[in-house]
Amino acid sequence: MVLKVAGRGSIPPFIVMDVMRAANEREASGKDVLHLEVGQPGTGAPAGVIAAVSEVMGRERMGYTDALGLPALRQRIARHYDDSYRVAVDPERIVACTGSSGAFVLAFLAAFEAGDRVALASPGYPAYRNILRALDIEPVDVLVGPETNFQPTPEVLDRVHGKLDGLIVASPSNPTGTMIGREGLRAIVEYCDERGIRLVSDEIYHGITYGTPAETALAFTDQAIVVNSFSKYYSMTGWRLGWMILPEDLVRPVECLAQNLFIAPPAISQFAGIAAFDCSAELDAHVARYARNRELLLAELPKAGFDKLASADGAFYLYADIAHLTNDSSEFCSRMLAETGVAATPGIDFDPERGTRYMRFSFSGSTEAMAEAAKRLIAWLG
Ligand SMILES: Cc1ncc(COP(=O)(O)O)c(C=O)c1O
Repeated sequence: MVLKVAGRGSIPPFIVMDVMRAANEREASGKDVLHLEVGQPGTGAPAGVIAAVSEVMGRERMGYTDALGLPALRQRIARHYDDSYRVAVDPERIVACTGSSGAFVLAFLAAFEAGDRVALASPGYPAYRNILRALDIEPVDVLVGPETNFQPTPEVLDRVHGKLDGLIVASPSNPTGTMIGREGLRAIVEYCDERGIRLVSDEIYHGITYGTPAETALAFTDQAIVVNSFSKYYSMTGWRLGWMILPEDLVRPVECLAQNLFIAPPAISQFAGIAAFDCSAELDAHVARYARNRELLLAELPKAGFDKLASADGAFYLYADIAHLTNDSSEFCSRMLAETGVAATPGIDFDPERGTRYMRFSFSGSTEAMAEAAKRLIAWLG
């Protein structure tokens, strides 16, 4: 008998993972690969985290923690908002989660009903759309482009048909690296607050910026859900730890959901997270390397014909319009990998409609890898 498979799982794959597999297969067959497809730091956790974890392993049982996270971690995160943004946050509103990915599941379940409509920028991080779909919440794509620095604005949102229950923004964004300025963010917050739209601000790339530091939505409202993570600036992707700041009315619902869905985030990672806030010297050195990589690629990629790039004010991505090179970015990226050994991600992951003419380069790796990739791409296309 054929057993039923629920429709919830029939969401699109995360294509960058497929690209990574192709790159890994190439490597396994003995050929070299320059990894400009990966969306994670090329480094591990900072030394201060490793030292703190070795120490804590000897004295802690590593049992379940509170569902919302270790009180010491929640307090340390609150201090981070005071230190970095001059914003006071009650630790009671802070929730530790298994990465920002875990935060999205909890936040969407607590804030939205099945059938609600949640807007998100396209191009954008594909998991927003796919998690919403898996939870029977309707994602509403808001097409953005260079005219608005690939970010939503109140004017762009005004053009969306029908009532919205939520809006997800990310500044800096994946895949474009573009940011919403302080006043732009204030305008979006006001737009949402006036219309009863629940704002979800993904601030995972904060700390990785190349000019003005990023502003938190908490500077303007306590009604937004602010999501962050130890994966990017803190260079700890595999530790699977993130956090969110919730409006007061969502704390108890999220606590009940977290208790039942996950019990608690990994204890060891939470101890590690506390230590990570004291490692800024090492982490800022990574950001300095990303800045060098960014400069290098901004200077070299146009020589290969990649000359229509989003502004990349933060994160570690360059989003390139390649309409003059192909109308099938997947085929283009596969051919580029096969012929040059440079792996990058086709835009269809981020923008189902127009992504066939865009691609994303990640510059989170070493500067040597960026220089070599640029050399090969210039030889290939230049
Ligand atoms: C914009 C954005 N948000 C969230 C995530 C998920 O990160 P994590 O679950 O590791 O915190 C990513 C990962 O690439 C991302 O790019």
